[in-house]
Amino acid sequence: MPNKELKTYQKLSTIFYDLELENQETSKLALKFYLDYALNANGPILEPMCGTGRFLIPILQANLEIEGFDASEHMLNALIEKYKYISDKKAPVQKLFIQDFKSEKKYNLIFVPFGSWGLITDIEQSKLCLKNMYNHLNINGKLVLEIETINSVPSTCGTECFGAHTLNASSKITINTITSYNAQTQIFKSLCNYKLIKNNIVTKTEEELFEQYLYKNNELDEYLKESGFNNIQKFIDFKKSPAKDNNSAIIIYECTR
Ligand SMILES: C[S@@+](CC[C@H](N)C(=O)[O-])C[C@H]1O[C@@H](n2cnc3c(N)ncnc32)[C@H](O)[C@@H]1O
Repeated sequence: MPNKELKTYQKLSTIFYDLELENQETSKLALKFYLDYALNANGPILEPMCGTGRFLIPILQANLEIEGFDASEHMLNALIEKYKYISDKKAPVQKLFIQDFKSEKKYNLIFVPFGSWGLITDIEQSKLCLKNMYNHLNINGKLVLEIETINSVPSTCGTECFGAHTLNASSKITINTITSYNAQTQIFKSLCNYKLIKNNIVTKTEEELFEQYLYKNNELDEYLKESGFNNIQKFIDFKKSPAKDNNSAIIIYECTR
């Protein structure tokens, strides 16, 4: 698949993404959760699909050795711009599809937050990527992976939804979405239309088809084991409540090489 441009996470999508998440309570809890893993890593850290850096930048600010990559130029540009405000150094990130990741280096911690893993919608590619993450970990190194499950399909699925964020006194950015879910393929789709509106005039539009594979509750356990991972633990929130039943909308896996 790779060697092509990512069609999602373009310019307006990136701006909306950051505005949507910046003040959410779960963003703060998630940051504390992943920062804690980073502080205990005692060695190099990798964040695949690092987006605009809401985890990577605070980890850099804690003087830890982290690098990241992402397939979206727009998400990476947002990260690079934010990092310029706090450091003269080059942001340790590169534009890359996870399917293409290769490095001589091995890591003590690899983490992929926020359901991003489901953006690898082909399950065979997902398995190859898991094995690749395994191969890039040091012995006893940890993989922490957050997935969204088939229970995460929103109750609004199938209806048109609308959202908006104010940019400044004269501009706002809006989103219209129509979502669908196919229980056979386990693919959730959201057709998103973004509009940048300045002084009540639409000055830019953008359309993206967001697709995400939603995992059954025990599905990833098998794939992790097949890739060689041990000590597999499953949490349903950032307080590390254990996953005991099959009802959770998210599962955070922690496992080791
Ligand atoms: C939901 S965002 C999460 C970003 C960041 N982890 C966070 O929590 O804010 C998903 C990210 O994955 C990136 N992405 C999607 N498919 C990818 C792929 N195949 N390889 C690398 N990055 C990808 C997108 O560009 C986007 O930045």
